[in-house]
Amino acid sequence: MTPEQGRKSVRGPAAVSQANLRERVKELTCLYGIAQIASTFDLSLKSKLAAIVRLLPPAWQYPERACARITIDGQAFPTPNFREGACRQTANICIAEKKRGAVEIHYPDDRGMIGKAPFLTEEQHLIDNIAGQISLMIEHEEARTAKAELQKQLIKADRLAAIGQLAAGVAHELNEPLNAILGFAQLTQKSPELPAQARKDIERITNAALHARNIIRELLIFARQGKPGSTQVNLNQIIMEDLNLFAPLCEKAGVELRRIVAPDLPEITANKSQIRQVISNLIVNALQAMPGGGILMLQTSFDATSVRLRVDDTGIGIKDELKDSIFLPFFSTKDVDQGTGLGLSVAHGIVSSHGGEICIENKTGKGACFCVTFPRHPETVTREESL
Ligand SMILES: Nc1ncnc2c1ncn2[C@@H]1O[C@H](COP(=O)(O)OP(=O)(O)OP(=O)(O)O)[C@@H](O)[C@H]1O
Ligand SMILES: [Mg+2]
Repeated sequence: MTPEQGRKSVRGPAAVSQANLRERVKELTCLYGIAQIASTFDLSLKSKLAAIVRLLPPAWQYPERACARITIDGQAFPTPNFREGACRQTANICIAEKKRGAVEIHYPDDRGMIGKAPFLTEEQHLIDNIAGQISLMIEHEEARTAKAELQKQLIKADRLAAIGQLAAGVAHELNEPLNAILGFAQLTQKSPELPAQARKDIERITNAALHARNIIRELLIFARQGKPGSTQVNLNQIIMEDLNLFAPLCEKAGVELRRIVAPDLPEITANKSQIRQVISNLIVNALQAMPGGGILMLQTSFDATSVRLRVDDTGIGIKDELKDSIFLPFFSTKDVDQGTGLGLSVAHGIVSSHGGEICIENKTGKGACFCVTFPRHPETVTREESL
């Protein structure tokens, strides 16, 4: 009840309705202001919340004594004069039925309010309404960000597909002349009257051609669609085999190997040698990122629809500005003899052709973390779920 309402008998019905009207005008002004801020496109969510919170105290009965705070995901947006008070009114901000924060009005100076009801019923409706509007605004904002992210990924996927086609074409065209170079070089090497220097030079030609053929083979794998020769593959088993292979190298580099495998990991339908190549490429990258030693961790997990592999290292890490480029063919930060920049693009091509995804995960600590997700074989899902 407003003080004006309390003095109903003294001031008469006209004065009371005028006071009520004034309160409603204040509420509407506040809600209108919030709607305007919410629909401003060029403001960030943080700026919007910081602007909205300032509109709240004037809508309450004692604006000069009120202060407000909006909290969302642990981040607070208070009015400049904010102090907590015993007299407070709150409403939760819920998005998708999950509490994400709250709107609060406080009267830090509660002199003269103790024992009285400092907040009106209408004010509880108002604060609930404000929390609802903020929830909607955040929901829209998050949907917009998710859409923009999806568009970015689609553009990247398109670009990768185009590069894949181009790479396949070039690799195909180069394969034939390269085989001729290799064949003739090997033939010439067999000639008995070849001078020693010429033999050495031809050996160099052979080695260079073999290196080029390897690159072309990787390019063709990157560009290949579909998954030839698929079988039921257990990631845990591949990890074991691969790690055995890499163990001596890790020991030499001072890298500790850790393995956390999910028991009863479901099998996936995949081409085993291609999956092995993905894991090897990720392990090699991790080792190259830890020249002074560190920890390499491989971890498998699964849920109802997918099987996941995480490769985690404590190496040099990947700068934010490079994260968009590292899956592109020939993108490398390494010396020419250390990397061609095909490892991750090959891995991306293989994982995509298996209907999966490969991405960099955000990491709090030092190093980089790659997460590979494969879809579970549909039959496996149905069989287990029907048990
Ligand atoms: N674990 C990692 N830590 C830090 N940087 C990484 C890691 N993995 C990849 N990168 C970055 O991504 C780039 C691209 O990796 P990618 O495997 O495609 O090529 P590369 O390792 O440079 O060469 P290649 O694999 O063909 O020998 C690397 O040059 C490196 O900058
Ligand atoms: Mg690599």
